[in-house]
Amino acid sequence: MTQSDTEVAQVTELAKRRGFFFAASTAYGGTAGLYTFGPRGAAVKSNVEDAWRERFTVQEGHFEIESPTIMPEPVFEASGHLDGFDDMLINCPECNTSHRADHLVETATTVEDAESLPAPEVEELVARYEVCCPSCNAGLAGEAIDTFNLMFETEIGPGLGTPGYLRPETAQGIFVEFPRLKEYARNQLPFGVTQIGRAYRNEISPRQSIVRTREFTQAELEHFIDPAGDMPDISPVADVEVSLYPASEQAGETTTYRELTIAEAVKESVIENPWIGYYLGIAHQWYEDIGVDMSRFRFRQHLAGERAHYAADCWDAESEVGGDWIEIAGFAHRGNYDLSKHDAHADDDFSVFVPYDEAKTVEKVIVEPDMSVLGPAFGSLASEISEAIKALAGREPDAFDSDQVTVTVDETEYTIDVADTNFRVETQTKHGEHIIPHVIEPSFGIDRTVYTLLVHAYREDAIDTEDRSYLSLESTMAPTTVGVFPLVSNVPELVDRTEAIVKSLRDAGFSVIQDDSGTIGRRYRRQDEIGTPFCVTVDRESAAEGESGTVTIRERDSAEQVRVPTTELIKQLAGLTEGQTTFSDLRSRYPVIEGE
Ligand code: GLY
Repeated sequence: MTQSDTEVAQVTELAKRRGFFFAASTAYGGTAGLYTFGPRGAAVKSNVEDAWRERFTVQEGHFEIESPTIMPEPVFEASGHLDGFDDMLINCPECNTSHRADHLVETATTVEDAESLPAPEVEELVARYEVCCPSCNAGLAGEAIDTFNLMFETEIGPGLGTPGYLRPETAQGIFVEFPRLKEYARNQLPFGVTQIGRAYRNEISPRQSIVRTREFTQAELEHFIDPAGDMPDISPVADVEVSLYPASEQAGETTTYRELTIAEAVKESVIENPWIGYYLGIAHQWYEDIGVDMSRFRFRQHLAGERAHYAADCWDAESEVGGDWIEIAGFAHRGNYDLSKHDAHADDDFSVFVPYDEAKTVEKVIVEPDMSVLGPAFGSLASEISEAIKALAGREPDAFDSDQVTVTVDETEYTIDVADTNFRVETQTKHGEHIIPHVIEPSFGIDRTVYTLLVHAYREDAIDTEDRSYLSLESTMAPTTVGVFPLVSNVPELVDRTEAIVKSLRDAGFSVIQDDSGTIGRRYRRQDEIGTPFCVTVDRESAAEGESGTVTIRERDSAEQVRVPTTELIKQLAGLTEGQTTFSDLRSRYPVIEGE
């Protein structure tokens, strides 16, 4: 086992033992790809979601919605998911297990992104590298690769209900409501809509713990823009330095990153679209703030064959976990793909009227064939001929310059006097035009972000020669902020004092855990393992009233302790968790306690 594998194995074990996450429904044998977040994991996940909401919704001035997770079939006919949301499936002829062919090829060869290859090429690689079934080791050469649609199908309503699907992305819930959402935005571009919610994909082979699951949480932002008129102000992120792995660098043997600021990357067109550049900058800052190890983080551009059916360009945020790079967010330029599809399929208007800065004078072709002439002349063909005249006028107005015009209907030519078409060119004043907005989509995987935080925060060391493992989580992400213990649990006075302190901390908004059981050392270890950044111990010196009553505050990573007046506790903990005070400030201000 490599060090990376060990780290992942330790975190997975810790996650189950301490209640971060574990396989779901194991009382009934479990189902691959479905996980439950336990008390600790649900708390971290909720902290990540809150931090995302604050940064990408509140700070950006966007608005958040919550749409259903089940949507009717026509939505996915329009969105292209029914036809194009497939993975490559290969079945083992011996044990009949199903596998993702592209993943098997990636494991058996040096090909990094087999998903971007056509199926026949992947079949050829399976044969050439004698790829075997991971379950029973039978050879898979010669087995056909099928496409497998990843959506979960359901029926809405009893009997032969309406076909529906569990949404494979929260984004469609935003797109289908666009006709209403644009009204809430007063029909003014640009505007952004966010959604945090569950999405579902019937993965062929779920794997890597909570990385590839069948149900997961996305936090998505759909930023609707006028591509001709709206440009982002990238100045707030211009100097953010990012590690970029553009598609052009991915063909070589070695991995070469472009280390650039966002401003440089946009100027040099390494990042083509400034909106994508803007969001990569914000995302970089956000990941750093929540505790991702930025030396194990990069932005990788999708290869052309790897992009989803709707994406014109896409960059992934990737974190390194267990020696693998995993996608934790995608930043796609979806163009007007989605809204134009829904505009064409649905009974509503997905366009936005964009006013010109100055009104424009335009020439407009008008043609109104005179049916009192066409009817008697052409009988049942009159209306088709009329439509052909209108189409010709739009396409080729010069054809009306002569006295007569000829159109073709069912391979037969018909000639009409131009005077009978009422063709004319009028000058009109236009104040703007209807456009189908383009979409920039930062899309974050919340479960994978939680996983990355746990793995990147995992540490091992020794305290007073005793080995310990701990999670060095940011205070804002830790499931609990403060652990409070009575030094001994059989002195009622200390327990009462502890309970009073716990209440005062909870009233002040801290997430607090009270632990009375086991030695103080064991209690510290338990909090270390779940990443609680600070522990407060209530001892005999805490019983005194006012300034002379004191408690100890212990910092998780250094395991150092200081003794502070109880009256100062809330203020000091607030300073520590909000980043205004460091523990070293406290060490210089208050008595330091040696040893645990
Ligand atoms: N909305 C992007 C994705 O689900 O991958």
